[in-house]
Amino acid sequence: MAVLVSEHVEAVVMNMYKICCMVVQIVVIVCMLPYKIISSILFPNAPKTFSSVFITGASSGIGAELAKQYASKGVRLTLTARRVDKLSEVKSQCEALGAIVHTVALDVMDKDAMRKAVCEADDKHPLDLVIANAGVAATTLVQKNDKVLSDVSSMVTEVNVIGVCNTFGPALEKMQLRKRGQLVINASFSGLIGVSGDPLWFAYFSSKIWACTYGMGLRSILKLQNIGVTVLCPGFIKTELVADFDKVDHGFSKFHAADCAAAVKQMRDGIANDVGVVHVNGGMLGWLFAGAFGYNLIPSFLWNEIAPSADSSRH
Ligand SMILES: NC(=O)c1ccc[n+]([C@@H]2O[C@H](COP(=O)([O-])OP(=O)(O)OC[C@H]3O[C@@H](n4cnc5c(N)ncnc54)[C@H](OP(=O)(O)O)[C@@H]3O)[C@@H](O)[C@H]2O)c1
Repeated sequence: MAVLVSEHVEAVVMNMYKICCMVVQIVVIVCMLPYKIISSILFPNAPKTFSSVFITGASSGIGAELAKQYASKGVRLTLTARRVDKLSEVKSQCEALGAIVHTVALDVMDKDAMRKAVCEADDKHPLDLVIANAGVAATTLVQKNDKVLSDVSSMVTEVNVIGVCNTFGPALEKMQLRKRGQLVINASFSGLIGVSGDPLWFAYFSSKIWACTYGMGLRSILKLQNIGVTVLCPGFIKTELVADFDKVDHGFSKFHAADCAAAVKQMRDGIANDVGVVHVNGGMLGWLFAGAFGYNLIPSFLWNEIAPSADSSRH
């Protein structure tokens, strides 16, 4: 009994502590806003333009759209993915817009192939923008067979986590020598939510939480070296990935999904202005639960109740 009471008191104290942290965060943000607004008016930064762009996962969805929106006369694009046919379709579309396009068929999990592709592109024309966009969710695979769960988790982690390191590693070495460049990591709005008990999503969410943390950490280190880092945090965007979610969440993601071209336009604006975290189509629910706000405010016992949980009918 005494143990139960002390656990309850501890939980209450912890939750009060979280609410205090939340209040402090709000006060800091509110105080910072006027400073941010005034400094951006007094010292406006010219948006960055890019002439040599490297994109992973450029064969479809957001990656393909980024390639097309960056394609213009004289811009060099290095586009990578595994599906050669899709990649060459995107290449033709970008060339029609005036870009000089080089494609490399590779798997982001292949560290040596990634190093070779990045270094060769950089040697031809120094890269000023590198976008680690390739990603998988594999929700349908998890649904098909519980036994593949561990395989799926490691595959999602390999692509979404190690793939980013394989992309940024060689690019960073080059940019650090020049003390200039922009790195972009396509994380997800789910990376800001902080936790998911959903059996179909948890591996994906975990990888995206890593992506957000890694990107923001890199940003603070590389700022001193004049290298920008932007973390993209999109909510649902209409792509093949969402079509995959759609098969298991009964249309929920498709219903909330935003148009890909419009979303990528917002991402480009954020990248050009070296914004740290770019939110796109977060949605009401997303904002409610997102990041430090939702995660700190909601007591853990309540969070366990409301977080998406295992639904045996979906296995
Ligand atoms: N759509 C959304 O709602 C949404 C929301 C938040 C974040 N995102 C993120 O946005 C990124 C792009 O996804 P998308 O929505 O555009 O989906 P998509 O159309 O399925 O694009 C995924 C891209 O990643 C590539 N890729 C996957 N595994 C790869 C591997 N092992 N090696 C190399 N390339 C690989 C795919 O190319 P190949 O299959 O040809 O290799 C494809 O080009 C992902 O990181 C995703 O997590 C998407």
